[in-house]
Amino acid sequence: MWKFKHPIKHTIPEAHWPTAEEAEKSLLYQPVTIGPIIANSRTWVPAMVPWRATEEGFVTLENLDWYRRFAEGRPGVLVVEATGVRDIPSGPLLRIGHDRFLPGLRKLVETVRAASGGETKLFIQIIDFLSVKRRPEREKYFARFLQVSPRHQERLAEITADSGWLDAVESRVRQFLNNAPDEMLDRVLDERELESLRFGYREHVTDMQLPHVRELPRVLPAIFAEAAGRAREVGFDGVELHYAHAYTMAGFLSALNTRDDGYGGSRENRVRLPLEVYAAVREAVGDDYVVGVRFLGDEVITGGNDIDDAKYFGVEFARAGMDFLSISKGGKFEDAQQPKVGQAVYPYTGQSGYECMPTVLSDETGPFGRSVPLVRAIKGAVNKAGFMTPVVATGGISTFEQAEAILRNGQADIVGLARQALADPDWFVKVKLGRGEEVRRCTYTNYCEALDQAHRPVTCKLWDRVELDEPGISAVDDGRRRLLAPEWK
Ligand SMILES: Cc1cc2nc3c(=O)[nH]c(=O)nc-3n(C[C@H](O)[C@H](O)[C@H](O)COP(=O)(O)O)c2cc1C
Ligand code: SF4
Repeated sequence: MWKFKHPIKHTIPEAHWPTAEEAEKSLLYQPVTIGPIIANSRTWVPAMVPWRATEEGFVTLENLDWYRRFAEGRPGVLVVEATGVRDIPSGPLLRIGHDRFLPGLRKLVETVRAASGGETKLFIQIIDFLSVKRRPEREKYFARFLQVSPRHQERLAEITADSGWLDAVESRVRQFLNNAPDEMLDRVLDERELESLRFGYREHVTDMQLPHVRELPRVLPAIFAEAAGRAREVGFDGVELHYAHAYTMAGFLSALNTRDDGYGGSRENRVRLPLEVYAAVREAVGDDYVVGVRFLGDEVITGGNDIDDAKYFGVEFARAGMDFLSISKGGKFEDAQQPKVGQAVYPYTGQSGYECMPTVLSDETGPFGRSVPLVRAIKGAVNKAGFMTPVVATGGISTFEQAEAILRNGQADIVGLARQALADPDWFVKVKLGRGEEVRRCTYTNYCEALDQAHRPVTCKLWDRVELDEPGISAVDDGRRRLLAPEWK
């Protein structure tokens, strides 16, 4: 986990919970129009990957339970985890890239509808990602993965002042580099080769030498459109296009996208594919269906997008007709920490990762509502351009006062609680009933995120060891962690 040099330990804010009457009159519990639908309240559970799908990406009973448990708390909107749009294996993450996934997804919709009494609107986040390989063993990298070229021979000849390298056989080059010190490798290998060696091979949207990457603008609109059509077919109330964090569409939006095919460089070019994907999705699902987007208020990486880019994108997304804008922050590969050999780089280990899921070990600003200034700026730009598209704020929001103040101050239209909802899925109903005192408060120390990083089923430290011996509790790790928050009695 990334840390500030001189971290300040914050305590979670004190909460003064409203009575049921106060909650009823609050803005938080007023309905909100999201495109063609109305959500019952301005509360939102953003996407959270729980690592519960089958290896082939099918919905499991554990997935159904996970979403049922959130639905019991009756948030206004619940967003299903990032779900892959392609028909390619992606480990235990949900997929929607083929009709065979539909029965499970339909069951998921029915489960949420029943558990929330129809009160919670259900969206699904749809995602595309490029290939990321595990960090290789050094020997393997130099024996098999490095593509030796005359460039390496020339560099070696230059650095060692030995022209014999110019016609050295490949195996000699490989062997020499395998035994060379890091400083030598820094001078012989190029940036991407060093990245592959030290972090694992990873595709970038700028890899125009790879035909399937070059072709992304041609193929992605239809792939997203088909996925969205399936979401509609099984009864989801809407789709959220995942244009945030470290994945393909965020790569197109990024200021680091230098593609020279009209889809990189200027902001206008970078937003082109995201808008083309949206247009294809809209065409597939029609105007009477919710299509929104999650994107970054700031990438928090050197040379990456900042709030001015985000304001521009927000206005363009609203102008195109998106039904909501959900703002996240950071979560990039570019500043991620080096993974151990055999592990894949995780985009939440650098400062940008901290900003995505901030903890109580923070700077003066602290983790609570840390992204609100970005959200407010984006909402301001969108409204100023004449659009009333609802904007969702997320990040360190856990009390009623915080949420209500964000809405009252016009900083956002909807408030998202991710980790707080994981800590206590009943937050929404407890607060509404005037029983906020009973909320299990998230401590923002990211045990859940560590599980996500390890690709293990995500649970919360506040409840995963509680009443483990009760009958009918489903658990993992040899029965040491329960998979669901205890029922609220
Ligand atoms: C375990 C876990 C999984 C997450 N998975 C996703 C995801 O699939 N898609 C996404 O956009 N954000 C994901 N996030 C980020 C959250 O949606 C949210 O933006 C972040 O946790 C900050 O909000 P919070 O402070 O309310 O937790 C995940 C967060 C956690 C803790
Ligand atoms: S493990 Fe629980 S308490 Fe800790 S950050 Fe995650 S949700 Fe909050």
